[in-house]
Amino acid sequence: MGTPKFMPFLIFVIFLTTLLQNSEANQFPSVHPPHKGIRAAYWPSFNTFPASSIDTSYFTHIYYAFLLPEPTTYKLNLTQFDQKTIPQFIGALRTRNPPVKTLLSIGGGGTNATVFSLMASTQLTRKAFISSSIEVARKFGFQGLDLDWEFPADAVDMSNLALLYKEWRKALDNEARISGKPRLLLTSAVYYASKFTFYGGPRAYPAWAISKYLDWASPMCFDYHGSWENFTGLHAALYDSKSNISTSYGIGSWIQAGVPPNKLVMGLPLYGRTWTLQNPIVNRVGVPALGVGPGDGVLVFHQIVNFNKRTNATVVFDSKAVAYYSYSGSSWIGYDDVRSVNLKVRFAKSLGLGGYFFWALGQDKDWTISSQASNAWKY
Ligand SMILES: *[C@@H]1O[C@H](CO)[C@@H](O)[C@H](O)[C@H]1NC(C)=O
Ligand SMILES: *[C@@H]1O[C@H](CO)[C@@H](O)[C@H](O)[C@H]1NC(C)=O
Ligand SMILES: *[C@@H]1O[C@H](CO)[C@@H](O)[C@H](O)[C@H]1NC(C)=O
Ligand SMILES: *[C@@H]1O[C@H](CO)[C@@H](O)[C@H](O)[C@H]1NC(C)=O
Ligand SMILES: *[C@@H]1O[C@H](CO)[C@@H](O)[C@H](O)[C@H]1NC(C)=O
Repeated sequence: MGTPKFMPFLIFVIFLTTLLQNSEANQFPSVHPPHKGIRAAYWPSFNTFPASSIDTSYFTHIYYAFLLPEPTTYKLNLTQFDQKTIPQFIGALRTRNPPVKTLLSIGGGGTNATVFSLMASTQLTRKAFISSSIEVARKFGFQGLDLDWEFPADAVDMSNLALLYKEWRKALDNEARISGKPRLLLTSAVYYASKFTFYGGPRAYPAWAISKYLDWASPMCFDYHGSWENFTGLHAALYDSKSNISTSYGIGSWIQAGVPPNKLVMGLPLYGRTWTLQNPIVNRVGVPALGVGPGDGVLVFHQIVNFNKRTNATVVFDSKAVAYYSYSGSSWIGYDDVRSVNLKVRFAKSLGLGGYFFWALGQDKDWTISSQASNAWKY
């Protein structure tokens, strides 16, 4: 940090935060202690990175990604693969030092949002989903549950989501009382900003319900640009002077909506997005592109490091946006590296956020970014 360009924004947000926390405290009394210093990461079960290889010194919480509800019963679909993989995941992380908590994440990108919409739409279907989630979490020994519904499509979905959070939390409190076990955590991955119009009508997340019923929400601060657009872009920029599509705007919108900063866990990508340039010598951010680049549009960090080395790529740190890009021939990649992640973690810390999370484990290069982020958070 220490760079003056943060200052005006920070002063604004600190002002806002103080204001909102005061009104927040009266409106929504906090019924549980805040979680401090969350350094989380998702573990995609469908990848080949073994859970036993996770270095737990860099993390506090690991999510198993993902299970899905069955489209008619709304109970979680435990496939044969999951029945085999979950015990391996839990077994690999149960007795690690330092310890990590494990959460079961439900949903994920590219899954059928209509199933979630229907599930959330009646009390009966919400109950079936909630009961099943608790049963599965306890059966395998998870310590929490996470919802990644991408995305509630309209205002009706959003008000049903609030009911889901409310009833889910109540069920978790009850279950803890009856079983005598520590309550399961309840978290949710959410869009990078609290309000949006993409993939549906204008809508806002139920910030009050998030504040009251969740342990934290995790804004997915990535995928701002990709090869679905015909120009190059930084898919997880901290700042964008020309648009609201940036992490600083997104996190600011959540705080403005009234979610206490310590209940926000900021997303960080361990992957980049790639394009093929229209003209290899026109290679900055926002220049014409012809579609996907290497990796069919996505390369994970360790692949990017290899690509840059193998192709002798030009690597640029965009200090205004706080992001990296690299190019070689007509290939162009927008991504994060140690320096941008460090600055983003410091940004999160300076706003008093609950922590950060990565998508996803297995994508880092020898824990380079994970360890730097962890250090930046702690020191
Ligand atoms: C559960 O998931 C598997 C694998 O995706 C699928 O083949 C099966 O039809 C699903 N079961 C139900 C009841 O939805
Ligand atoms: C999504 O789920 C709904 C409800 O079960 C179903 O009607 C629809 O066909 C599904 N869409 C896709 C693309 O599978
Ligand atoms: C960004 O969002 C603010 C409200 O939060 C709005 O007033 C402004 O017009 C938006 N700017 C752009 C470029 O979309
Ligand atoms: C990019 O796409 C937009 C609309 O989708 C179009 O108007 C524009 O001409 C395209 N630009 C290039 C360089 O192909
Ligand atoms: C790599 O690129 C630099 C300039 O960017 C050039 O000086 C050097 O010769 C290149 N090396 C190889 C092996 O292509």
